[in-house]
Amino acid sequence: MKYEFDQIIDRIHDPYSFSFKWKSPGYILNDLGIEKYREDVICLETADMDFKVAPEIIDDLKKLCDHGIFGYSSIPDSYYEAVKGWYERRQGWSFNKDDIFLFSGTHEAVAQCVLHYTKPGEGVIILTPCYGYHNDVEGNGRAYVTVEMINDGSEYFTIDYEALEKACAEENNTMIVMCHPHNPTGRVFTHDELCRVAEICRRHNVLIVSDEVHSDILRKGQDFEPMMKACGPKGLIAATAVNKTFNLAGLAMTNVIICDPDLKVKTGDMYSMPSPFGIQAVISAYNKAEPWVDALNAYIDDNIDVCIDLIHKNLPKARVLRPEGGYSINIDFSGYGLSDEEVIDKIYGKAGVILNSGLFFDDKRGKQVHRACLSSPRKMLIEAFERITKEFEGSLIDKDLLHVSGGSLLDEAPTVDEHDYDEDVRTKIKP
Ligand SMILES: Cc1ncc(COP(=O)(O)O)c(C=O)c1O
Repeated sequence: MKYEFDQIIDRIHDPYSFSFKWKSPGYILNDLGIEKYREDVICLETADMDFKVAPEIIDDLKKLCDHGIFGYSSIPDSYYEAVKGWYERRQGWSFNKDDIFLFSGTHEAVAQCVLHYTKPGEGVIILTPCYGYHNDVEGNGRAYVTVEMINDGSEYFTIDYEALEKACAEENNTMIVMCHPHNPTGRVFTHDELCRVAEICRRHNVLIVSDEVHSDILRKGQDFEPMMKACGPKGLIAATAVNKTFNLAGLAMTNVIICDPDLKVKTGDMYSMPSPFGIQAVISAYNKAEPWVDALNAYIDDNIDVCIDLIHKNLPKARVLRPEGGYSINIDFSGYGLSDEEVIDKIYGKAGVILNSGLFFDDKRGKQVHRACLSSPRKMLIEAFERITKEFEGSLIDKDLLHVSGGSLLDEAPTVDEHDYDEDVRTKIKP
């Protein structure tokens, strides 16, 4: 089946869109202190995709609508079989039905783990820069303990084992939340890295929660190894979800895998009554939409090639690295020698492109580094980087530069003339 990743869907005006990222860019702009900004924003923040969900899933949800009753629901065996089957096929990882615990989202899962397995005031370790678990940790009265990763200067981050050992040795620190693949650095940790972290944590009795929600979104040539498969189940809890992989975050279905019997006794199924839409979506996604995920990854690989090519050739003072996993890139604008305010004003205010600044990830470089999610139709991304280039370099991108190995990707995503482009894209993404 051919999937339509180039289709631009109006997530602002459509009354059935409740998109957080497209309808509330103001929260990011407020955080950055921006008062004046271009109205027709392009939102590349929030790890959520602008692609329509796989038709295989939509067809089944339509059948559920036809059934017409959406009452209290129980989880059928086919749900557990679908989850197990996916991880066995895709990641070579086996677990049992009674190892699966369902939560209403990954934050909820992390927060519940924090509440169940740590005491008030204890410390939870996070390898930064990292996607924020502040609410899950600090919101529950625990301390947020950051261990900075090492940036080799090219945006490639590795674990500082010495600093991790020191943090784990502190008696008060009793849990680590590993983000694997790591958001936003794009690292997919290797077998050796995972085992070294596990060895340090276990030596100091630090419980590991491995957030693996990005594990199906992998860049070409990359293999993902679940932490539990790499290091065994002792003292380890894994969080997995359809949310990122299939663009189903709004259905809030996160499966937590706990195989260590000592951990299981402390928790129960925290979300025993999910919506029938969530249940059906998980079953359909894991059983039927595998080809969609493969096509998605291929499309995202091409998006990343195009955008990195654009940045290298047109924003020569910016620094960016190809990620190993996920669909986002981090762009370091510090080479332009501008103040934080100037960088923010150019990207968010004048170009009207909404990204996530380093502030969001406890990145010390704060407002000079920005994460862009490249999970949108290619034309939207090209428009975004054209606008940013214009602000930093003063001229529009030469589209002849948009060639990646094997030919121009613009040929695949049919180009439209400026007039059509205005009509089809810009007006639609106007708030
Ligand atoms: C690493 C990571 N974990 C968790 C979440 C949130 O997941 P959920 O929507 O399932 O709570 C995100 C969202 O961007 C994420 O990137």
